Amino acid sequence: MDDQRAVRLVLLGAPGSGKGTQGETLSSRLGVPRFSTGDILREEVRLDSELGRKAQALMGQGRLVPDDLILAMVAERMEGSEAALGFILDGFPRTQAQAEGLERMLAERNWGLDGVLEIRVPEEAVVRRLAGRWVCPDCDGVYHEDSRPSRRAGVCDRCGGRLVQRGDDRPEVVRNRLRVYQEETAPLREYYRVRGLLRPVDGQGSPEEVLERLMAFLDSR
Ligand code: AP5
Repeated sequence: MDDQRAVRLVLLGAPGSGKGTQGETLSSRLGVPRFSTGDILREEVRLDSELGRKAQALMGQGRLVPDDLILAMVAERMEGSEAALGFILDGFPRTQAQAEGLERMLAERNWGLDGVLEIRVPEEAVVRRLAGRWVCPDCDGVYHEDSRPSRRAGVCDRCGGRLVQRGDDRPEVVRNRLRVYQEETAPLREYYRVRGLLRPVDGQGSPEEVLERLMAFLDSR
C-alpha cells in the first residue's frame, strides 16, 4: 500500500492494549493525524479549561466522560483541515452513542472508515503494561520500564521532561477502567462486525511485531 494514501481508521482495545503506541507509529507511517480523546482530555485538564475541569474527576476514577462532551470535541477535530488527510481515532468511539455520532459525522462528509482495528491483549498482560507505564506530561511520550525504557531513567527521550505515572494507572482505577471497557466499549465489536469493518489483531509480542500485523491488514485492503 502507498504509505501516503489517506486512510480512516479506528483503534479499539482495552486500556493498555497498545492503542497509543501503535497509533503514534501508524500516524507517521501513513502520514495521517492521530486523534486520541484521552490525550486531548489530559491536555484540557492541564489547561484547566471548563472541559478539563468536568473531565478530571471522571478520568481519575476510570469512568467515561459524557458522550456529548466527547462528540463535540471530536466534531471540532473533524472540521479542522488536518482531518481531510485521513485520521486514526485512538480511544474513540467508546460507547454506542459515540459510534453512532461518528457515523453521522462521516456521512455528512461522504467519508467512510477503512477499518476498526481491535488490538487484543489478555487482561493479565494489560495490567502489567499499565503498572510499568511511565509518561511525559510535557509531550505525551509513553514508555514502559521493561519493554520501552527511556534512555535515561525518569527522563523523556524526546523533550527531557520528567516522567510520571498516570493517576489512572493505579491498580484500583485500572480495575474500574477494565470493567467499563467490558461493559461500554467491548459491545462495539459487534457494532463494527456487522458493518464488515472489524479486524481483530493479536496485540501480544513486541510493539514492532504488532505493528507488522496492523500493516499486513492495511496492505491487504
Ligand atoms: P485513554 O488515554 O484513551 O486511556 P485508555 O483507552 O484506557 O488507553 P491507554 O492510554 O491507557 O492505553 P493504550 O491502549 O493507549 O496503551 P499504550 O500504547 O499507552 O483514556 C483515559 C481516560 O479518558 C478514560 O478512562 C476516560 O475517562 C477518558 N476518555 C478518553 N476517551 C474517552 C471517550 N471516547 N469517551 C469517554 N471518556 C473518554 O501502552 C500501554 C503501556 O504498554 C505503555 O507503557 C507501552 O509502552 C506498553 N506497550 C505498548 N505496546 C506494548 C507491547 N506490544 N509489548 C509490551 N509493552 C507494550
